[in-house]
Amino acid sequence: MHRGKGMKFVGDSRVLAPEARTMKNIPKDYSEYPGKTEAFWPNFLLKEWLVGAVFLVGFLCLTVAHPSPLERIADPSDTGYTPMPDWYFLFLYQLLKYEFAAGPYTVVGAMVIPGIAFGALLLAPFIDRGPERRPSKRPLATGFMLLAIAAITFLTWQGVDAHDWEAAKEYGKITADVEIDKASDGYKIAGEQTCLTCHGENLQGSAAAPSLIGLDLTVDEISKIATDGQNKMPAGIFKGTDEELQKLSEFITGLAEE
Ligand code: HEC
Repeated sequence: MHRGKGMKFVGDSRVLAPEARTMKNIPKDYSEYPGKTEAFWPNFLLKEWLVGAVFLVGFLCLTVAHPSPLERIADPSDTGYTPMPDWYFLFLYQLLKYEFAAGPYTVVGAMVIPGIAFGALLLAPFIDRGPERRPSKRPLATGFMLLAIAAITFLTWQGVDAHDWEAAKEYGKITADVEIDKASDGYKIAGEQTCLTCHGENLQGSAAAPSLIGLDLTVDEISKIATDGQNKMPAGIFKGTDEELQKLSEFITGLAEE
């Protein structure tokens, strides 16, 4: 069939009539490839839509089967928690930890370096205009791409490696709400004996110490830990009387998740 199906374009000076075409790189009409083409509407679009629908339903099933892992409610006044970006932003986040890109130079890490990198990517089609398509024939473009991949991989790895995942997990844990009787003697003693500074205002745990709620410990065991310490908890924190120690330990054993 004739190119353009013999159609003449009138009224638009930018579109040349077929016989006036001199440029060689204008694609041929699809009717010149019999048997190898299909109509965009509805054949092609229907196929695309079907594939899209299969993926969409797949993703929906995945999100239902694996809900996103939540941590406890964000508290802006809390400085002990280190928020982490998702993995695909980790390299940018890691960049901000280096001396040349942090503190007074944050602008370098946040704007200048990423700006140059992404700006270069944006301008690549205009800068790299050679006719060669083979990666081995384009050493500069290929080199910079490999460099970028290496940098992103390295920074991501460093970001993962430098993060204290255990502490973050402990800290971000969703703890059940507990009704703490802040007027009780036990709570007052916990405050006086500085237990709250590490174990949290509601003894719910913090980055420094685990939760004391719903422990599987006896009164005596808790008393012993309070005076002798345990692993990372130093000894000699409790400095009150035996009677206070008893009250404090009983108070802690009474803390149960609601
Ligand atoms: C300097 C911070 C700090 C202070 C203050 C502190 N703790 Fe601890 N506490 C910790 C740490 C850290 C641990 C975890 C120890 C470990 O790794 O086993 C812990 C663990 C505990 C445990 C055991 C928890 C478990 O899951 O087995 C108890 C009970 C406890 N503390 C009670 C107290 C009491 C009572 C006080 C107040 C007298 C107190 N702590 C004050 C840091 C502290």
